[in-house]
Amino acid sequence: MNAIKLLMQDHKKVRQLLTELEGTTTRNVRDRERLVHEISNEVTIHAQIEEEIFYPAFKAAAKKSDDAEMFFEAAEEHHVVEMVMPELVACDPATDEFTAKAKVLKELIEHHAGEEEKEMFKRAKALMDEDELEELGTRLEERKMELSGEELELVGAGPSRAKNGSNGSRSARGTSGSAARIAAKTQPRAATSRATSTRATTSRKRK
Ligand SMILES: [Fe+2]
Repeated sequence: MNAIKLLMQDHKKVRQLLTELEGTTTRNVRDRERLVHEISNEVTIHAQIEEEIFYPAFKAAAKKSDDAEMFFEAAEEHHVVEMVMPELVACDPATDEFTAKAKVLKELIEHHAGEEEKEMFKRAKALMDEDELEELGTRLEERKMELSGEELELVGAGPSRAKNGSNGSRSARGTSGSAARIAAKTQPRAATSRATSTRATTSRKRK
């Protein structure tokens, strides 16, 4: 699949999930937990494949200083999303604080995805030919599948983690990008026991 098409599909999915989350209230705790879990997974994996594969390819093909600026700005925006996401995951969905965090995250992601689509992706189409974008798309797709498998393993480990001696850090050791960073950041929080059990429950439901 073409790289731009794949990344645009990801954006569409995350936009839909964020709109669904925006439509919830402090009374829709279960829906909020499910949606935050899904958004966190989608965004983490998407950001990681962009950072590992797409951004470096774009940077290598870049010709103008504007291209480099686009790259640095996009990476910086990922960084901000990475800081807000674990806070939302750890936040109590029954609170107004959660509502506010979800709204800010939606604005952040929509701004970032919009800029990528209008500027970076448009420019990537000019800098790379069809074959290059196709090849890049295959690499993105393969890495995405790999990371989705790791994420399922991590959340599926849930309550039985203590028994088998693994503390869930396998995935954090195995991946160096956003997924591991977010997993690591969310683990030590006090509120994480709720978030983690929710993640495991959601994961079991999805199987
Ligand atoms: Fe993106």
